[in-house]
Amino acid sequence: MAFFAAVANRKGGVGKSTITVMLAHALAVWGSKRVLILDLDSQCNTSLILLGGQGWNEARKAERTIADYFFDLFDGNTVMPKDYLIHGAGDVAGANGKAPTISLLPGSLMLEDVQGELYLKQAKESNDPDIVANRVGGRIQMLLRKFEGNYDVVLLDCPPGLSFAALAALKIADRVIVPFRPDYVSELAVDRISLIIEDKRNQDALDEVPIADRRYVCLANYVRDNGRDRLLIEEIGLKHPVLDTQLPMRDGIANAFDYIGGNRQSLADKYGNATEDLRRLYDEVSPLLSDRHSKIAAQ
Ligand SMILES: Nc1ncnc2c1ncn2[C@@H]1O[C@H](COP(=O)(O)OP(=O)(O)O)[C@@H](O)[C@H]1O
Ligand SMILES: [Mg+2]
Repeated sequence: MAFFAAVANRKGGVGKSTITVMLAHALAVWGSKRVLILDLDSQCNTSLILLGGQGWNEARKAERTIADYFFDLFDGNTVMPKDYLIHGAGDVAGANGKAPTISLLPGSLMLEDVQGELYLKQAKESNDPDIVANRVGGRIQMLLRKFEGNYDVVLLDCPPGLSFAALAALKIADRVIVPFRPDYVSELAVDRISLIIEDKRNQDALDEVPIADRRYVCLANYVRDNGRDRLLIEEIGLKHPVLDTQLPMRDGIANAFDYIGGNRQSLADKYGNATEDLRRLYDEVSPLLSDRHSKIAAQ
């Protein structure tokens, strides 16, 4: 059974797509895991990082995107989920020089439209908006789960908004990684998404769940070595589980966003001066992504 890990935050630009791809690379190359990424964001950055513009365009033309998948299978069609996946995604090589096992369900600009259409379809069968929303959400959860047989880890790159797909991802995730920037807006965004993940009405109700028992863990990104950032991260750590690993702003991370066609690169070439950051992230996160019951170390 695959382990489902969502990377999510209500805020855009905090590094969700970047971190999703970093984890996929490290888990597949260093951990020899079979990794699948589901790109749930209609900005499609993960797909662009892993396929490049041309590769993503080809996937769209071939109707192999998440929007096509949802649209075709929502009503229980017999089309095979695996037919929508791109295998050998990305531009890095494993130790043997070959493509690591990274598959991708490409993102689509149409994902929101398709979710709207699916909602309207369901609305013809019931007048109760809650029932319709539950049905749509439930089916999308089922569609996302369908891939688990062939993979060790399924990474769900979430959009900043709360679409059906994003909510479904948060529901089925065994673990949610919440990247944040050490700033005030990010702190609020972490507070808000943590309530959704733990299904609590307010901070008081959330506080009753011990930090080590939470399903999510926060990851500070773009961290500068100054007192202000340290203070903010500490403040977040009083309310939420936070990884020891912190990612600084690094050229190697920014550059890894660009897909390099042609020959596959080693992880060290791909990440340059951020290879050590990737190693630290991998060492801390990979144990959390294999054991459903592993607890997060007390802060
Ligand atoms: N630690 C980092 N150092 C440098 N650039 C980063 C870092 N993390 C993310 N970025 C850059 O920030 C931008 C936004 O990141 P992205 O992963 O697309 O965020 P999100 O998915 O949350 O919207 C990208 O251009 C990415 O290359
Ligand atoms: Mg993104």
